[in-house]
Order: sequence, then structure tokens, then C-alpha cells
Amino acid sequence: MDNKSILVVDDEMIIRDSLCEFLKLEGYHCNSADSFKNALVQLEQHPYNMVITDVNMPEADGFELLRVVRKRYPDIAIVVITGYGTIESAIGAIKAGAFNYLTKPIVDDEIRVIVSKALEQQALLSENKQLKQKLSNRYGMENIIGTDYKMLKVFDMVEAVAQSKATVLLSGQSGTGKSIIARAIHQRSDRMTKPFVELSCGSLPETLLESELFGHVKGSFTGAASDKQGKFLSADGGTLFLDEINSATPGLQMKLLRVIQERQFEPVGSNETKTVDVRLVLATNRDLQQQVREGKFREDLYYRINVVNIDLPSLAQRITDVPVLAEHFLQNMSLVHGREKHGFTEKAMAKLEDYHWPGNVRELENVVERAVVLSTGYYIDIIDLPPHIAQPANGTIINDYSAMTLKQALEEPEKRIIEAALKKNNFNRQATADTLGINRTTLYKKMKSYQLDMDNEFAKSQIIDY
Ligand SMILES: Nc1ncnc2c1ncn2[C@@H]1O[C@H](COP(=O)(O)OP(=O)(O)OP(=O)(O)O)[C@@H](O)[C@H]1O
Ligand SMILES: [Mg+2]
Repeated sequence: MDNKSILVVDDEMIIRDSLCEFLKLEGYHCNSADSFKNALVQLEQHPYNMVITDVNMPEADGFELLRVVRKRYPDIAIVVITGYGTIESAIGAIKAGAFNYLTKPIVDDEIRVIVSKALEQQALLSENKQLKQKLSNRYGMENIIGTDYKMLKVFDMVEAVAQSKATVLLSGQSGTGKSIIARAIHQRSDRMTKPFVELSCGSLPETLLESELFGHVKGSFTGAASDKQGKFLSADGGTLFLDEINSATPGLQMKLLRVIQERQFEPVGSNETKTVDVRLVLATNRDLQQQVREGKFREDLYYRINVVNIDLPSLAQRITDVPVLAEHFLQNMSLVHGREKHGFTEKAMAKLEDYHWPGNVRELENVVERAVVLSTGYYIDIIDLPPHIAQPANGTIINDYSAMTLKQALEEPEKRIIEAALKKNNFNRQATADTLGINRTTLYKKMKSYQLDMDNEFAKSQIIDY
């Protein structure tokens, strides 16, 4: 226990000093802060295991500190000191997540027991968290994140199929992770030291695509100035990933059928038959079975490639993965852009979870990158999100209409508009009132009734009143 660090927060110097002195004698590292603000500064500068805070302090009280510490530093154990033994505030503190409370006057024996118990519990909790993290890394396979059971099933299938030579068809909307799963299959196979070659069937006109895949001999068509080795040969011994297979033309489909059946082909303009050992992984962002029914995709080819199908769920179907993915991208992007970001505010995360993500994981990755670049604080807030996610057009009022008056129905949009206008005007009330075409008293009343002045810490610190 001797290297545990404790921060004591109290506005009374005598309590601070005597408590710290006692804790140091007990073998702990101890620092102190005389206010909420200084406590936050200390917490940013040193890693603490525990905070002991007074409840009654000028400015923000111990409860405010408790709330912030629980949110920003969930691994820190908190003990509050209640001034006059008022049981109500002690109960309130426990409810708000404090481990325990001490009552003034503080008795040495009591501190000794409470501090050591709180630290013990805190150690257990963080150990537990680390174990869970390890477990999720195992399931998350390298950098592919997913805790939803649909993704766990995908990971199981990848594990099961990777070692075999079976052709794999990956299906799923754009941005769901087909390309990274294709790589993961190669990485987990015994072909991992051999090439992983990738080609999108939608990227080129048929003739060029054919020579890209099978190669060509010099002079076989205008522009073929020398022999070219195709992707099939480049991937010999390894994996060939054919993306957007749904856009392969009928001619290409026929050629693919042959190479898949016989593992043989001839380069464009050549009679020489080449034989290759290639593992095929294909991806489609359309329903191939539907394409077969519509006569756009050869049925025989469909059966050849649909040996093992791994269908990737859209992000909307696994919305519980949004927080883990968002945190993962936040870490990556913070490194890439050299920014220090600690996480998302609860409100910002709620917006991310409410959104329907038509562009799936790719869209989330882009949104997080944008936020990392734009945000100025340590935490990504609603204001750092694109408008269509931060303030989605509220169709729900109309869809969810249940008996309410027009006045009630207009409350929510009115609140949002005022909130947005306040932010836009840096919380200057006069400027906001002018923008909205109302007078300052009306604005003030509305802010009060929507708790816009109480709710928003940022607003509190920014309000410029004239
Ligand atoms: N489960 C995941 N964990 C972490 N990152 C992911 C995950 N799924 C997708 N990504 C990231 O999202 C982006 C889009 O993924 P990817 O390119 O694999 O999608 P795709 O299904 O191949 O899309 P398209 O159909 O447009 O080719 C990539 O940057 C990828 O790294
Ligand atoms: Mg892709």
C-alpha cells in the first residue's frame, strides 16, 4: 500500500495539513488542495488512487468534485468528509458514488480503516477492468473492435475459416469492415507470410480489369508495351481479395468461374496456361442472391464463391459498439494528429448512439477524426460533432405525437434553438437575444425555464452579461 497516492481537498488548512501528515505517517503519498479548482489542477498533474474531499467548501462543493472525479477518473476511490455529521449529505455522497464518508472531528482509527478498505476495493476494481480489457482485446482481434454478439460471431467465423483454403464471401453495407476482415483472414492463415493482393472489380473497365487480373503479353493490345504479371500470379501462395465482386461484368464473371474451378488461366494474348495456388476472399456490398434472381450475376459463379459467407452487420444493428469504436478511433486519431483527448462528454456520446450511421464504421471514424481536429478541450463535446449528428432534424416529434398541446410540443425544438444560438454567440445573452429577435428578459426567462443557465458548465463559465 505504500506507494498509493491520496489527494486531500479541504478549504481549512488545519484539516488538510493534519490529515496529510497522518496519511504520510501511514506510508501513503499525500498532496492537498484548498479548492475544487486546485483539486482539478492536481488531478491533471498526478495519478491519484484516492481523493478525500470536504463537502462544504466555497465555490463548488465536494459533491461537484465527486461528480467530476467519478466521470473523468472512474478508477479513483473517493471518500467525503461531512462537516457536522449530517447523515443526509453522507447518504447523498454514497449515492453519488463515494466509497465512504468521514465525519468531523476525524478520528485516526476511522481514517486508517476507511482509507485502506477504499484502496483495496479500488485495486480490485481496476484489476477487474484490466481483465475485461484483455478479454475484449482477445475478442476484438487486433484492431478490429466489436463486443456485440453479432461481431463475436463474425470473429468466431474468421477464426474457424482462416486456416482453411475455403473461398470466403464477405457481405455487408459499405464501411462495415469487409476490407479489414479480409486482411484479418489472411493474417490468421498459414499464408500470412505470402502476399495479400487486392483488386476492386468495380474500379476499371472490363478489358483493363482482365489484364490486371490475369496479366498480358507484350503487344496483346494497344498500350501493352511489355509483359505484365496479373494479380492472380502475384498472389500465388497467398490470398487474392476481390472487392465489389457484384460489379463484375458478365465476361469477367465467366473468366472468374473458370479460374476458380480449375485454378488455371491464360494471360491476355497468350496461349500459355498458368496454374496458381491462391486463396480467394471476395466482398460484395449488394445482395448477390438478389442479383442472381435478376439475372445480373451468374448462378454457377455465385455457388462457387458463396462457400463460406460472413455477413457484416451494419453499425445501426450493433449500436452498443458505438462507444468502444468511438473511444478506439479517439485514441488512434489523437496519436495521428498529436492532440491530447481524454474522451467524450456523456451528451456527445449520447448523440453518437442516437445517430443511424448510414456510412457505418467508416462514417464514425471520420466523425471522430473531425472532432479530434476541431475540438479545443480534453473532451469531445456536442459542439465538436457535425450538425446533422449534434442537432438532427427532429422528425420524432411528429412520429411520436401523443396527446400534447402545441405549446408543449414546441418546447423541445425551442430549447435546442436557444441552446444553439447561445453557443453560436459565445453565450453572450444580448447577442443571442438579438439573433433570435426577442428581448433579453424573455431570453433569460426561457433559459431559466429550460435550465440552460444551470445545466451547462461551459455556459456558466462563459456567460458575459452586460
Ligand atoms: N470493427 C471495426 N473495428 C475497427 N475499425 C473498423 C471496424 N470496421 C471498420 N473499421 C474501419 O472503418 C473503415 C471502413 O472499413 P472497411 O474499409 O473495411 O469497410 P468496407 O466494408 O470494406 O467498406 P466498402 O464496402 O466501402 O469497401 C476502415 O478505416 C476500417 O479500418
Ligand atoms: Mg472495402
